[in-house]
Amino acid sequence: DLKGFAFDLDGVIADTARFHGQAWHQLADKVGTEWTPELADSLKGVSRMDSLELILKAGGHENDYSQDEKVALATEKNDNYIKLVETLTPADILPGMKNLLDELKANNYHIVLASASKNAPKVLKYLQITDYFEGIVDPAKLTHGKPDPEIYSEAAKLMNLPANQVAGLEDAQAGIESINRAGETSIGFGSSLQDADVKFAHTGDVSLAAIKEQMDN
Ligand code: G6P
Ligand code: MG
Repeated sequence: DLKGFAFDLDGVIADTARFHGQAWHQLADKVGTEWTPELADSLKGVSRMDSLELILKAGGHENDYSQDEKVALATEKNDNYIKLVETLTPADILPGMKNLLDELKANNYHIVLASASKNAPKVLKYLQITDYFEGIVDPAKLTHGKPDPEIYSEAAKLMNLPANQVAGLEDAQAGIESINRAGETSIGFGSSLQDADVKFAHTGDVSLAAIKEQMDN
C-alpha cells in the first residue's frame, strides 16, 4: 500500500513549466537557437546547466561559449525566471492539487518534494504551501538528474519508506522514467506519458480515490 507521495513541482503543482519555457525561449533567441515545441518539451525536468547545453546543442552552438560565459547565460535565464516566479500567488496552484495535498495530509500520508529546481523553496513560499512538505530533496546534492532514479530514491529515503510504498507525480517523460526506475508508482499528468502507471489528462482529474481506482485496475 502507498504511504508516501513525492511531488514534482514545475508543471504539476503550478504552471511554472511555462515560466521556465518563457525564460529559456528568451535565452534561445539570444544565442540563435530556433525555439520549437520539441525543444521546449525536452527541457522539462532537466537541470539548469543541462537545459542550457541542450539549447546550445540544438543550434550547433555548444562550442561557442566558455564555461564562464555559460554560467553567465544560465544566471541571466534564472534572473528572468525569478521575476516571473515573484508574480505567483496561491491562485496559481494548478486545479486539483491543493485538494490532493489536503486529502493526503488528512489521511496521514508522507509528502515530500522531488523537483530538480533550486528555486523550488521559493516557488512553494509564493504559493503558500511550504508547510505541506515534510522534506524537500536538495537537487544540489544529486549526482544525476532525471531520468536517473536518484532524486525519487532520495525522496523515499526522506520519508523512510521502501520504494513500493511511494508514488511520484510528474508532468515530464524524464520524471516518469526516474520514478519507474526507482521502483515507485508513477502518476503522470498530460497527454504523452505512456509509461506512467497512473495517468490523468489534467491535474483537475486527480484525487486519492481516482489514483486508487487506477491502481486496482
Ligand atoms: C525543473 C524544471 C526544469 C528546470 C529545472 C531546474 O526540473 O522542470 O525546467 O530547468 O527544474 O530549475 P532551476 O530553477 O534550478 O533552474
Ligand atoms: Mg515538471
